[in-house]
Amino acid sequence: MKKIAIFASGSGSNAERITSYFADSQHVSVDLFLSNNPNAGVIERGRRLGIPTVLFDKKIFSQTNKIVDLLQNQQIDFVILAGFLWLIPENLIKAFPNKIINIHPALLPKFGGKGMWGHAVHEAVVANGETESGITIHFVNERYDEGKVIFQAKCEVLPSDSPDDVAHKVQLLEHKYFPEVIEKLFAK
Ligand code: GRF
Repeated sequence: MKKIAIFASGSGSNAERITSYFADSQHVSVDLFLSNNPNAGVIERGRRLGIPTVLFDKKIFSQTNKIVDLLQNQQIDFVILAGFLWLIPENLIKAFPNKIINIHPALLPKFGGKGMWGHAVHEAVVANGETESGITIHFVNERYDEGKVIFQAKCEVLPSDSPDDVAHKVQLLEHKYFPEVIEKLFAK
């Protein structure tokens, strides 16, 4: 059994989708949600889904080993970032080499990097007149959005699309592919 922990700073719809997808799996279990944001929707989702949810602050995350200790004590194999906004500190990356996976709501290397998150990404895609956008699932390293790409999927962006329209199309791709890509990765 591969045990995963999901970090999320916001709504947590991907966290929920991944949890439901693996609910009856013999190979993957979602053991933990973690969030930096006490108002994040993911906390309510964790409660509803029966997934233990841990809240932490910046100091604990960036200046102590507590989160690494927690993940190791729970024998977590993989860390999934699903809308998690803080840079991952070196101790966490070193403890989980090539075992931290992020989803980004655009086709990296375009529209990535610091500040490129949430609606800002889709606004930039529309403002730039892009004809396509999509998702990038990638390994995480010390820099925002620069780790090795595992998977990308595209959607069309029409001239009439608003950033909300693009966000919707991208979210459909995320919910469809993120759990499947995780499953395939673990099967290797
Ligand atoms: C997703 O678009 C993800 O790609 C991005 O943040 C969003 C999280 O959405 N990194 P949700 O919290 O899973 O609904």
